[in-house]
Amino acid sequence: MKKYNVCMVGIGAVGTEIVRLLRKRNFPLAKLTAFATRERTEMIDGQPVEVKVANGPEAFAGYDFAFFAGTEGAKGASKTLGWGAAEGGCTVIDNGDDYRMDPRVPLVIPEINAEALKKHQNFIANPNCSTTTALMALYALHREAKIKRLVCCTYQAVSGTGAAAIRELEAQVRAWVAGEPLPREVYPAQIAFNVIAQIGSESKDLPGYTSEEVKLGRETRKILGDDSIQVVSTCVRVPVVNGHSEALHIEFHNPISPERAREILEKTAGVKVVDDLHNSQFPTPIAVSGQYDTLVGRIRKDPTVPNGLALFVCGDNIWKGAAQNAIQIAEKMIEMGLK
Ligand SMILES: NC(=O)c1ccc[n+]([C@@H]2O[C@H](COP(=O)([O-])OP(=O)(O)OC[C@H]3O[C@@H](n4cnc5c(N)ncnc54)[C@H](OP(=O)(O)O)[C@@H]3O)[C@@H](O)[C@H]2O)c1
Repeated sequence: MKKYNVCMVGIGAVGTEIVRLLRKRNFPLAKLTAFATRERTEMIDGQPVEVKVANGPEAFAGYDFAFFAGTEGAKGASKTLGWGAAEGGCTVIDNGDDYRMDPRVPLVIPEINAEALKKHQNFIANPNCSTTTALMALYALHREAKIKRLVCCTYQAVSGTGAAAIRELEAQVRAWVAGEPLPREVYPAQIAFNVIAQIGSESKDLPGYTSEEVKLGRETRKILGDDSIQVVSTCVRVPVVNGHSEALHIEFHNPISPERAREILEKTAGVKVVDDLHNSQFPTPIAVSGQYDTLVGRIRKDPTVPNGLALFVCGDNIWKGAAQNAIQIAEKMIEMGLK
């Protein structure tokens, strides 16, 4: 079997899990290197990972895949190094938001739209974690009854902000218990024992909404290939370490009962149904952490609209929402003979 030279750009919350999952999934690895802002050796589960600095696209010569998990924006690694690496022959799989809506770039969840990989130009985008969590629960239902409108309220874990945010929640909890002043650097408000109704920056395109809320709509339409789907959301950060939760209220074009939805979801790749309200069984972020599958429960009729359903969904934002999906893209490309 062919083996592949792989590098990561960024070895924070997502990059670390990419290393873990490459090992756990027995990805056919020849060489594994990380690039970050300074050289060092990182120990992950007792095994060393060499960390170098990439000073230009030439650093990617000889690598088959590069998983980008650095910071976003003009000075971020995707903007400064991504396309140079891709043009040099290395397939870039980017976790950030810089190129998700770029028409050259497939935005892929392999269970849903792997076909989009066929037109790749060596640069593929991984969707935002809140989009992936919602769409894993929705794609099979969309195929059955066609989504007209989605109302989505999220309860997002601090790991979605990165390693520094996990440290901030833990430090605030410790300070609270000790009766000391709470340290705060990452979030605009205290996160311990609180919720924050802002994820991302204020949107210029949609006044009153945040960048995270805008991403959910536009990425949903691109991945499902349907520009007519209407999405409205409120994205909220909660004091959970890992695992995003979402309340989804969906109006479909065609009738679909909760029983039929449950039957479909029980057969959907990448989904596990946890739905027994009578016995208090429903998805939780604790239960989904470290799981490949997205958990779906509270499957019920929304009686306020024609053809309405309501669901509660939890996904591991670092695994399926980032590292796992990125690796699945590489695995799918190999399986499809694209690499
Ligand atoms: N966390 C999630 O749930 C999630 C989900 C989906 C997508 N994403 C996206 O994935 C990316 C990474 O997120 P994260 O949560 O892992 O962030 P993080 O924990 O803050 O880690 C960022 C990493 O990127 C490195 N880095 C920053 N600028 C760089 C540059 N110019 N060149 C090379 N390396 C650079 C940092 O290096 P040092 O270690 O040297 O400081 C660090 O290792 C972001 O774009 C984020 O939006 C995250």
